[in-house]
Amino acid sequence: MNDKTLQFFDTTGFQQDLIDWYHANKRDLPWRMDQDPYKVWVSEIMLQQTKVDTVIPYFYRFMEKFPTVYQLADADPQDVLKVWEGLGYYSRARNLQNAVQEVVDTYGGEIPANPDELGSLKGIGPYTKGAILSIAYNQPEPAVDGNVMRVLSRILKIEDDIAQQRTKKLVEAYVRELIPEDDPSSFNQAIMELGALVCTPKSPACLLCPVQEYCLAFAEGRENDLPVKSKAKKQNKIPYVSLLIKNENSAYIIEKRAEKGLLAGLWQFPMVPINEIGWDHLENWILSEYGLEIKVSEKKGELKHVFSHIVWELEIYGATTHQQYLTDERLRFVYKEELQAYPFPVSHQKMMTYIV
Ligand code: ADE
Repeated sequence: MNDKTLQFFDTTGFQQDLIDWYHANKRDLPWRMDQDPYKVWVSEIMLQQTKVDTVIPYFYRFMEKFPTVYQLADADPQDVLKVWEGLGYYSRARNLQNAVQEVVDTYGGEIPANPDELGSLKGIGPYTKGAILSIAYNQPEPAVDGNVMRVLSRILKIEDDIAQQRTKKLVEAYVRELIPEDDPSSFNQAIMELGALVCTPKSPACLLCPVQEYCLAFAEGRENDLPVKSKAKKQNKIPYVSLLIKNENSAYIIEKRAEKGLLAGLWQFPMVPINEIGWDHLENWILSEYGLEIKVSEKKGELKHVFSHIVWELEIYGATTHQQYLTDERLRFVYKEELQAYPFPVSHQKMMTYIV
């Protein structure tokens, strides 16, 4: 396929068979109970980079705590992070709350159905915009993520590298041709569902596929060669020593991360970039960085935490301090029982198992 006009493609048959299959086979997902744009929005943000099974309990908890845009707009950002704890990519939660505040302030609490207004909200890129417009507002807009790229690269035998922005634009142009005016909501969700249940990354279940007869890759036995995707850059490994520092009262030191950047606003146990500092200077570095006198004690374990672009290699050590007061405003003393009130990244939640 190298032309955006689908001259010999049976578009109507494809739409019909795909949508019929979707209605008979779709999963009962909590954000599919109605077409509430707020639920669609929250679910689509959670589903970026996260599997459906993982998202479901988070979605329920989020909706219970913040049932409408108004509760989310008014919430303490730390409470939003706490509900998001463990889902990763925490800037999604922060952007979502910022955008919802704009919806309340500027649009009277109504999530815009206008593509430009919707697309200008924080955290709403072309995919999320298309998903909300099509799923909640029945507008024939493409919502192309990695799954949709995979499905359509096979159906239309698109051999371009799907890691390229250009290919995404091409697929969006195809979706504009394929999407039916009368039920764009079902169509986009059907493609997503097909990608999740049938047209999977490895060993697609072509024999069960409702649109096999339209699939140009299957016709040539090429379904396993597509999509073509260039390899991402290798992830950078960063070694840290992470410290469980306690004083004589068994209060532990936790640190609030910066309001910008990776894991913004979450809490952690202090981390030392050990390659930059060197083992000999560890305690001195803590003193100059935090005004905190410590003695490092025994090693407790190791953890790895993989982000999209970097890997943290954490070596966990115990440490003690005689201090009762802290001068650095990022730091706080908390007792073991108080830790669960704070949002922590998963790697640091795991570290808590070393606190007895
Ligand atoms: N993945 C992304 N969006 C989805 C949705 N609405 N339903 C199921 N899986 C999805």
